[in-house]
Amino acid sequence: MGYSAPRGTVDILPGQSEKWIKLEQLLRTIAANYNVKEMRTPIFEHAELFNRAVGDTSDVVSKEMYTFQDKKGRYISLRPEGTSGIARAYVENKMYGLPEKLQKVYYMGPMFRYERPQNGRQRQFHQFGVEMLGVESPYVDVECMLMAVTVVEALGLQNVTLHINSLGDNESRDAYREALKDHFRDHLDELCGDCKARFEKNPLRILDCKVDAKHPAMKTAPKTIDYLSESAKNHFDKVCTLLDDLEIDYVIDTNLVRGLDYYSHTVFEIISDDPKLGAGATVGGGGRYNGLIEEIGGPATPGVGFAFGMERLLLALDDEEDEDEDGLDCYIMPLGEEAKDLAMQIIAMLRANGFTCEMDHVSRGLKGQFKSADRFNAHFSIILGEEEVKNEVVNIKCNHDKEQEVVPLENILAHIENHLSGGHEHE
Ligand code: HAM
Repeated sequence: MGYSAPRGTVDILPGQSEKWIKLEQLLRTIAANYNVKEMRTPIFEHAELFNRAVGDTSDVVSKEMYTFQDKKGRYISLRPEGTSGIARAYVENKMYGLPEKLQKVYYMGPMFRYERPQNGRQRQFHQFGVEMLGVESPYVDVECMLMAVTVVEALGLQNVTLHINSLGDNESRDAYREALKDHFRDHLDELCGDCKARFEKNPLRILDCKVDAKHPAMKTAPKTIDYLSESAKNHFDKVCTLLDDLEIDYVIDTNLVRGLDYYSHTVFEIISDDPKLGAGATVGGGGRYNGLIEEIGGPATPGVGFAFGMERLLLALDDEEDEDEDGLDCYIMPLGEEAKDLAMQIIAMLRANGFTCEMDHVSRGLKGQFKSADRFNAHFSIILGEEEVKNEVVNIKCNHDKEQEVVPLENILAHIENHLSGGHEHE
């Protein structure tokens, strides 16, 4: 019988993993540039953390979470997102007491959501996320957005737009919640069962209902931005002014509410119109979450962050540039069993000196081995036939300039180094 990977999961094979590494390196470089440090938290957490942090009326928690009981009967969830774990670790490790008030961290890794898989949507997917905790300032909101924009610019992604909105502070959200209830009260009979429950518990979630998305009352629903308190409005205005000053393009999208419950004030998404992702796909999103740390038992601490879906970044990137794969330094080509023993010595010596090498392990003839050297894009082919073994020499061919030379064993390293540094004189 055969096995297949669980639906919604993907194997990243050699040939693709290089793209991932390149993306990860680029993201790490940008993080360093913004003085954001890496933080790693567990892939599973107590389910209760996500119920609390993300909210049990959100689809992510109520419908999409992988939750199970461990052997002691504890409810454990595979993390559907990264912010909750970072917030938990921030509190547990008392990072709020660190001398530097603003803590800026990033993470990369797998997240899990039981969703219907499609292009750019998986059940195990990867996020690159950033959280900036400890300071409530529109400057920090904008630093986050700027960093997100830097990522899409560094990747050269076309057709992306920064959408922003504000959900306001507690006062604004209380006023807005009442306005939403007034609006939807008369339509309650026409909405789905989930929305009826959301109406009581968290009417904001009605707005991202997938079942009722086309209901006319959705279009005419009140906008968060019309219910902002004065201080929330000031915060949002300052965010907009800072973005203007930095000449960052954005649109104010009054329908943007985000799907997780912890947000307050600024929310934003980076939306791509790349056809490979489906029009209007979100490559990344985030916002401010001033109540989250307190909600999970920490001292009142503001925070703001964002996360990108790494698969979506790679999909959008796919034909932007084709990988010019780095080749090997040396491909060692032994002909015959005796030559293999010597090849093993040579390859070990070359690797110990920092060269990337491979050798033939399947005892092919010269032609087959040259094909491999070609496939690996090897700079040098090092050929060892019976004659060479007997004479304690190898035949080194530079596959770039096609020069070929017989080199004594003890001179292999010097020959290669000399050739690479541009000198071609005979040893
Ligand atoms: P989110 O909008 O739920 O936010 O997810 C962020 C990004 O993860 C999405 O924009 C999308 O690119 C990617 N993503 C989500 N679900 C999937 C999936 N099933 N398959 C592939 N990619 C997916 C958060 O997770 C927040 N924690 C972001 C944040 C950080 N807010 C503040 N700090």
